[in-house]
Amino acid sequence: MSTTSRGVFITFEGLDGTGKTTQMRRLAERLRAVGRDVFESAEPGGTPIGQQIRRILLDHRNHELCATAEMLLMFAARAQNVDQWILPALAAGKIVLSDRFTDSTLAYQGVARGLGADVVLDVDRIACRGLVPDLTVCLDIDPVAGLARAHSRNREQSGVETRLDEQDLEFYRRVREGYRQIASDEPGRVKLVDGSGTVEEIEGAVWECVRGAVGLE
Ligand code: TMP
Repeated sequence: MSTTSRGVFITFEGLDGTGKTTQMRRLAERLRAVGRDVFESAEPGGTPIGQQIRRILLDHRNHELCATAEMLLMFAARAQNVDQWILPALAAGKIVLSDRFTDSTLAYQGVARGLGADVVLDVDRIACRGLVPDLTVCLDIDPVAGLARAHSRNREQSGVETRLDEQDLEFYRRVREGYRQIASDEPGRVKLVDGSGTVEEIEGAVWECVRGAVGLE
């Protein structure tokens, strides 16, 4: 359990197109069905201020946004989310589910953009003030499959690719390596789940990871 709260903080991670948003929603429903009080959040975004920051981050016209500014904006949205929503929900004893958190920044900005883990963790200390997920479910899929899914979904939803869709396959391969490194460094917290099965198979695997963490064994 987190030392900063009474609730349980669970994050979902993975490449774009892994289906983590669907899985998080299913987990929330399952936890509510057994009487748990669940709060759902997502990054970048979450709070209304975070949503404004998200628009800057994803705007395909913002080509010149440099890697450090991108990382700081991710953490600006996160700091607001931690203060405004996540810590109060944890203090109220809720299970907080977040679609992405600092591991995304470690994998995307730290590894794939090359900023390095130390820089990311330095800013994390300021933005998150020691809040670390109790459990992180990381859905692992082949970047080729994930990228194809993410591109078709974004075109369907918005008709345009976002700035972060414009990365090439090599970038996504580095992100995946970043996640795998985090999972091997922190096997107690980060659980890699095979994201290539059916939605139901993945849901079952996610439940196996989560139920112990929320005291349902
Ligand atoms: P989403 O599609 O899961 O909402 O995420 C939007 C994009 O932002 C996705 O390509 C992953 C990226 N991202 C980062 O690069 N760093 C971060 O810290 C976070 C939270 C997301």
